[in-house]
Amino acid sequence: ALSLANLGTTPASAQAAPAISTDPRRHFPQGFLWGSATASYQVEGAVKEGGRGPSIWDTFSHTPGKVANGDTGDVADDYYHRYKEDIALMKDIGLKTCRFSVSWSRIFPTGTGQPNQQGVDFYNRMCDSLLEAGIQPFCTLYHWDLPQTLQDKGGWENKDVAKAFADYAGYTANKLNDRVKHFMTMNEMRSFVEIGYKDGRHAPGLRLDAKRVAQLNHYVVLAHGLSVQAIRAQTKPGTKVGIADNATATAPVIETPEHIEAARKAYREENAMFLTVLMEGRYTDHYLKRLGADAPHFTPEEMKTISAPMDFVGLNVYQPEYVRADGSDKGYTVVPSPASYPHMLSPWLHVGPEGLYWSPRLCAELWNVKEIYITENGASSADVLAPDGQVYDTDRTMFLRNYLTQLQRAVAEGVPVKGYFLWSLLDNFEWADGYDKRFGITYVDFKTQKRTPKLSAKFYKQVIKENRVV
Ligand code: NOJ
Repeated sequence: ALSLANLGTTPASAQAAPAISTDPRRHFPQGFLWGSATASYQVEGAVKEGGRGPSIWDTFSHTPGKVANGDTGDVADDYYHRYKEDIALMKDIGLKTCRFSVSWSRIFPTGTGQPNQQGVDFYNRMCDSLLEAGIQPFCTLYHWDLPQTLQDKGGWENKDVAKAFADYAGYTANKLNDRVKHFMTMNEMRSFVEIGYKDGRHAPGLRLDAKRVAQLNHYVVLAHGLSVQAIRAQTKPGTKVGIADNATATAPVIETPEHIEAARKAYREENAMFLTVLMEGRYTDHYLKRLGADAPHFTPEEMKTISAPMDFVGLNVYQPEYVRADGSDKGYTVVPSPASYPHMLSPWLHVGPEGLYWSPRLCAELWNVKEIYITENGASSADVLAPDGQVYDTDRTMFLRNYLTQLQRAVAEGVPVKGYFLWSLLDNFEWADGYDKRFGITYVDFKTQKRTPKLSAKFYKQVIKENRVV
């Protein structure tokens, strides 16, 4: 032991080293589902094959000036042809599960009407390969690629599209149900509504006024509710239905009861507003007040459909917001980030590992949710191939290690998170950012389609192998 008496008299090397042992508490529960996530338009390519009809992202990405470098998803990762090779990569990493999305216009090329068997066959073949590799498929039914024909009829502004979505979702879930047990209706409703129909930076690239956005927003949540019913009606008992929502995590600035309470309020009223609608069947006061005369028209019956019970909640967690108690009636302030706040290559991706603790915790506490998945979490980095052919993405690895540490804390404290899907297996088409922002743990050379697992893939493999943060 160190004491003043031996300081300076004994060389440091001769003193007994402090006993350091690896923290035994860093483990995840047995059976924790480690996975990766992708989405159809971002990885598949083959946009004109297998009878696929065009989607709004084909139109948008082919409109000059909409996507960085004029990139499109025409080829993307060519996953449509290379899925077997990519599933071998998943298997090598040790993944237990994989989240993919179905392209609506592969199943119904014009959104409704005659289904296209080739589309169903593709997803079934792919799921067969996953199951052969011991990987459980989780299926998202809508990850932003609306059939163009439906956009021509008004897209989500048209209430009939909500009905069409439920039909497509029920049909597809039925066809895949021998292989898939978990379905997510939609991915990040808030993103595709706000970025696609309000800001115009994503397909279909519209800049509608607040009233129209609120109304289409309502049809989107209605479509979710209708599709929950349709999936249940057309699948076997035991099939689970949920959503992949991007409630922005709220982290208390300091972990004291008052700031925690402020974070909870902010989550329910604002940041997880869509979840509140789905879980409680009501628009929040904050939302209705903000909209005033622009608030959507809805009926009590619709609100009941919208809040059809789900079996699990999926949370996409990236950048949290910090919240403090402010003594006001509202009870909280969302603190703006200082200009110096650290972020990943995507400027919006502020690094806030606490989000992976607070979002699932608040979700479980507020609505007594028993089964939560982190349906996305990951980071963009300025990846380069080193002279030895490797990619040393230490920043992504740092990001993941810190986020997973917070997730482990949540699980250890009893938050019912059952699995984690890392975004993403592969570098892919990052929407309006094209191929510039790489989110993969596998590097993709888009000229040759060569895959190179990055340092972060090796890190993740070790996490899975030891079932703990390494
Ligand atoms: C959310 C979206 O679901 C996904 O499509 C996107 O690529 C990632 N976040 C990263 O921005």
